[in-house]
Amino acid sequence: MRRTLAAGNWKMNGDAAMLEALGHLQAPGGDSAPDILICPPSTLLVQAVAASKDSPVSIGGQDCHSAESGAHTGDVSAAMIKATGASAVIVGHSERRGDHAETNADVRAKVEAAWGADLLAILCIGESEVERMGPDTLDIIAAQLDASMPDGATGETLVIAYEPIWAIGTGRVPTLEQIVETHDMIRARLVTRFGSEGDSIRILYGGSVKPSNAAEIFTAENVDGALVGGASLKVADFQPIIDALAAS
Ligand code: PGA
Repeated sequence: MRRTLAAGNWKMNGDAAMLEALGHLQAPGGDSAPDILICPPSTLLVQAVAASKDSPVSIGGQDCHSAESGAHTGDVSAAMIKATGASAVIVGHSERRGDHAETNADVRAKVEAAWGADLLAILCIGESEVERMGPDTLDIIAAQLDASMPDGATGETLVIAYEPIWAIGTGRVPTLEQIVETHDMIRARLVTRFGSEGDSIRILYGGSVKPSNAAEIFTAENVDGALVGGASLKVADFQPIIDALAAS
């Protein structure tokens, strides 16, 4: 059984009040309680780790550089994120791929850097709207997955987040059928590449997950949780998503 995961990506948002609210998040469901992860901006990581002490919430970064150290102004390394007490890092988010021209090879190197620092890597992939409308959508996502994912992944070290770019922050979500088809394809590919270990790697859906649509999305067998942007900024929005995951 894969443990489910509700991950919140705060993006370039976060303040003292939001850190305070972290302590109010709860993991319902006893043994089936979802893992809860919040990824604040890197400037807040140390405070977020402190604020989530004695709570079920773990803390992660939103990106890391692939190098261990050096002349990379503005960047942070995986080891620096680890040193804050964080346990995970998102890599390859479409906003990083878009805003910072990150390639699949760059993202793959970041996953390896995360592993080198003993961080869980949450690897994001997903198609553009034009790619979704074309005939090769699944092939495009598969190629992105293959090229971004290093060898040697395990359920302990890697989480995949499928995030259609056109669904991020737009209020639009794929149909359940499209989500099922895409997640099943990703699962099959993980198993082909990693054998039975591929079955233990969690696959999150991301893109306009809200309290109103979470329960339906979580009915899909190969949806093991969600990567949530906007709806992770308020406990009143994020908690019902966690609860829907616990009930799924
Ligand atoms: P959204 O963002 O939930 O605001 O659509 C998701 C993400 O970018 O991870």
